[in-house]
Amino acid sequence: MKLSIPSTALPAIVFLLQSLRASAFDPLVLNPVDAYTQCEPVVFSWSGAFPPYDMGIFGTTLEALTATNATSRTWVVDFPAGTVVRAAVRSLNISSLTTASIPALTVMPSNDSSCL
Ligand SMILES: *[C@@H]1O[C@H](CO)[C@@H](O)[C@H](O)[C@H]1NC(C)=O
Ligand SMILES: *[C@@H]1O[C@H](CO)[C@@H](O)[C@H](O)[C@H]1NC(C)=O
Ligand SMILES: *[C@@H]1O[C@H](CO)[C@@H](O)[C@H](O)[C@H]1NC(C)=O
Repeated sequence: MKLSIPSTALPAIVFLLQSLRASAFDPLVLNPVDAYTQCEPVVFSWSGAFPPYDMGIFGTTLEALTATNATSRTWVVDFPAGTVVRAAVRSLNISSLTTASIPALTVMPSNDSSCL
C-alpha cells in the first residue's frame, strides 16, 4: 500500500513532531537563591532536563563548576560584597541541551574575607 500524504499536511506534521520532541523532557529550571553573602556557602538546586549538568557563575570573573549528575550543589560565594552575581545551570546531555538562569543578585557583606 502506498502511503500518500498531501503536501499541505507537511507543515502540520513537522509541527507535531517538533512539539513531541520538545515535550520529551521537562524544562530545566534553576531555583532562585535568597541571597549571596561574601564567603558563605549557598545551595543551588534545579530540576528538569537530563544529567549531567554544569554551572557557570559570573561575578568579577566567570567560574565554571565541574559537571555533576546531582540536581543541587553547594558553592562558596568567593566574590567580594557588592559584586553582581549571575548564575546559570546547563544540561550537557545531548538529549536535553538547555540552559536556565536566575535573576542577578548583589553579594551581601560579611566579616569573613577568608575565601577572597
Ligand atoms: C542522558 O540522559 C539519559 C536519560 O536520563 C541517560 O540515560 C543518559 O545516560 C544521559 N547521558 C549521559 C551522557 O549521561
Ligand atoms: C554521571 O552518570 C553517568 C552514568 O552513570 C556516568 O558515566 C558519569 O561519569 C557521571 N558523571 C558525573 C559527572 O558524575
Ligand atoms: C561584623 O562584625 C561586627 C562585630 O561583631 C558586627 O557588629 C557587624 O554587624 C558584622 N558585620 C556583618 C556584615 O556581618
